[in-house]
Amino acid sequence: MAGSCRCCHAPLEAGGRYHPRCLSRLFGRALLPTIPFGRAEMPALVARDQGRMSISGVQMKLSARLDNGTGRLESVATGGTYILKPEPERYPLIPQNENLCMSMAEAVGLPVPPHGLLAMADKSLCYVVKRFDRAEDGTKIQQETVFQILGAAEKYAGSLESVGKAIRSHAANVGLDVIDFFERVLFCFLTGNGDMHLKNWALLYHGRDLALAPCYDLVCSRVYIANEEDSALALNGKKNKLARVDFEALAENLGIDPKAAANSFERLRLAQEKLREMAIGSELPFGLRRKLAGIIKARYKRLYGRSAADASSLP
Ligand SMILES: Nc1ncnc2c1ncn2[C@@H]1O[C@H](COP(=O)(O)OP(=O)(O)OP(=O)(O)O)[C@@H](O)[C@H]1O
Ligand SMILES: [Mg+2]
Repeated sequence: MAGSCRCCHAPLEAGGRYHPRCLSRLFGRALLPTIPFGRAEMPALVARDQGRMSISGVQMKLSARLDNGTGRLESVATGGTYILKPEPERYPLIPQNENLCMSMAEAVGLPVPPHGLLAMADKSLCYVVKRFDRAEDGTKIQQETVFQILGAAEKYAGSLESVGKAIRSHAANVGLDVIDFFERVLFCFLTGNGDMHLKNWALLYHGRDLALAPCYDLVCSRVYIANEEDSALALNGKKNKLARVDFEALAENLGIDPKAAANSFERLRLAQEKLREMAIGSELPFGLRRKLAGIIKARYKRLYGRSAADASSLP
């Protein structure tokens, strides 16, 4: 078997580890950049850029720029157009997990920036994603996380309804963004993502208009935290034991027409086999692949009933 692409996770037709088209999409050409540092060098680079780099978040990360002359991804304090996230000590294989979840989101039609897994100088893999808050020439596109928009004090203290309200009050194309948001909420539940707190939702400026920013930080957190609550933010007044009615109530709260909500449920339902295939076909270690497929199967059953569970069997 030729394996799956380290960008999109779809099967590879020929040798190599990436589809040339996926590399082109990520780097502007079908060449694989090198990363001149390893995981061990990253803390010093992060410290060097401290205070000047405009991306936050708990996990270690660097902003980087592609040097077209040398073909190297260089860590830079300003003007970076990529984000690099290495494997944290606490959560093994997060780069692979995040890359897979982003590919799954893309496969179900959600907006996802170009991304992939790249080997660093020490051969360890890091997750690389194109920055959606930078234009090609490196100029900044303003983004506001929902945490900032709401003036929140704690990123887990909030509700999905309040994120929806922020979208409804600020987005230029409310109808489109509200459905996008609702489908992302369904997707996160179905992929065992219990970490979509207020800083993992953002709005992005397009000129003077605001729109929901593309997906980021999608991971199946459930594989690491067995007793994790279903959702980082409350939904219909609770974070756990979520059921179909709670998601239906969210759709209503967001002002989504019942027919459109039913369409979204159906779109996600039809993706079950695709998500299972991607989890099973990924390059994650066997145990983790199985665990992920098991989580997805259980979540489908909770949202769609027994028929969903029958539709797929574990490997
Ligand atoms: N592709 C991207 N383009 C532009 N900005 C991004 C992108 N991905 C993430 N960000 C911004 O960087 C911040 C941190 O990124 P991310 O959420 O991936 O990091 P993290 O450390 O894993 O987060 P957490 O604190 O949730 O663990 C996000 O809140 C978002 O505003
Ligand atoms: Mg985050």
